[in-house]
Amino acid sequence: MRVLLFTGKGGVGKTTAAAGTATLAAARGRKTLVLSTDAAHSLADAFNRPAGGEPTEVGPNLFVQQVDPQRTFERTWVEIRSYLLSVLDSAGVDPIEAEELTVLPGAEEVLALLEVRDQVRSGRWDVVIVDCAPTAETLRLLALPEALNWYMDRVFPVERRVVRALRPVLTKVAGVPMPRDRVFDAVERLHAELAAVRTVLTDAGTSVRLVLTPEALVVAEARRTLTSLALYGYRTDAVIANRIFPEDGADEWRRGWVGAQNRLLGEIEASFAPLPVLRSAYRAREPVGIEELTGFAEALYGDLLAGPGARDSDPCALLARGETMTIRTVAGRYVLSLALPLADKREMELRRRGDELVLTVAGHRRPLALPAVLARREITAADLAGDRLEISFAREVS
Ligand SMILES: Nc1ncnc2c1ncn2[C@@H]1O[C@H](COP(=O)(O)OP(=O)(O)O)[C@@H](O)[C@H]1O
Ligand SMILES: [Mg+2]
Repeated sequence: MRVLLFTGKGGVGKTTAAAGTATLAAARGRKTLVLSTDAAHSLADAFNRPAGGEPTEVGPNLFVQQVDPQRTFERTWVEIRSYLLSVLDSAGVDPIEAEELTVLPGAEEVLALLEVRDQVRSGRWDVVIVDCAPTAETLRLLALPEALNWYMDRVFPVERRVVRALRPVLTKVAGVPMPRDRVFDAVERLHAELAAVRTVLTDAGTSVRLVLTPEALVVAEARRTLTSLALYGYRTDAVIANRIFPEDGADEWRRGWVGAQNRLLGEIEASFAPLPVLRSAYRAREPVGIEELTGFAEALYGDLLAGPGARDSDPCALLARGETMTIRTVAGRYVLSLALPLADKREMELRRRGDELVLTVAGHRRPLALPAVLARREITAADLAGDRLEISFAREVS
């Protein structure tokens, strides 16, 4: 069972890359589902076929699904939300404003991932490909179950007992409705469901492909996404650089772009090493429909598929071996561990620049955007252990 997630900034080509990869996987005889958790119904556009809330067959071995977050949302969230609404109502908050307040940013997206878990567990598929809504915010929310564990284990059961005992009194005195058991049940269920989603998404058969275009702002965001993904335990196995201007026959205007993109592509290779960077040209038209998507994906995975053993080469294979970047805690300290194959200590330099770590390896600069929890801590040690660089951070925030 293989699960592939495509993420990145809006408009960079996530849907196209997800749909193209699915098309290739299906052509290799693997039963493939590609589903989108993005509210924009763009998978249907990419295949030029309507996609429903259930998996729809669009070709041999190839199924498409457009998750309807609203539906999942209502199923799971409705109890908690109606309680919040009643609290806000009794506090005199305008109902329209209350509606706005109870919309959790990213919640629909997270709940759409519940559908991913269901499909993965169904046993119907060899490959499940997920076209994610833009970006790491979503995945960050999935770290929530862990943060909530402590609360769920200790505080929640006590609170529940206390509330049950006090409900009649408090409701009368304070005029604030107390949560009913149904609400506690819903919170518990949601917590368990999010934990199950996390289990699927951090499984050894799951990886993220980070899609970007060679533009400075996009690359900066992708770097932050990469470290956030590592922080929350997600494995990234490739970077996809999309919309690269072809060099041949370029006029002056295009030559300018080609030069700028080439410089950024160099930076991309250095920043994301040792992750493979797959390249995809800006095509003459939008890759829409199975034929065009196949062309797009064959070019994208071209080197991989053209190499020795190409016939059984697999665009869904884990493209990076081992853990390229992890962030773990050891006795309360954060340790960022980076794979640096063949690195020589004498050719390595580590500097801190604001929220960034700048690692120079054999003359190649590799900026790493630190996630907020690390940005505010001093580095206490950096050791090369085998082919990994292990950077330890201070326990205290400075
Ligand atoms: N390499 C490419 N060449 C030409 N058009 C592309 C390419 N990649 C994506 N597109 C087009 O760009 C638009 C945005 O791509 P899409 O995959 O929907 O991005 P995202 O899902 O990241 O928002 C779509 O119209 C798509 O067909
Ligand atoms: Mg999209």
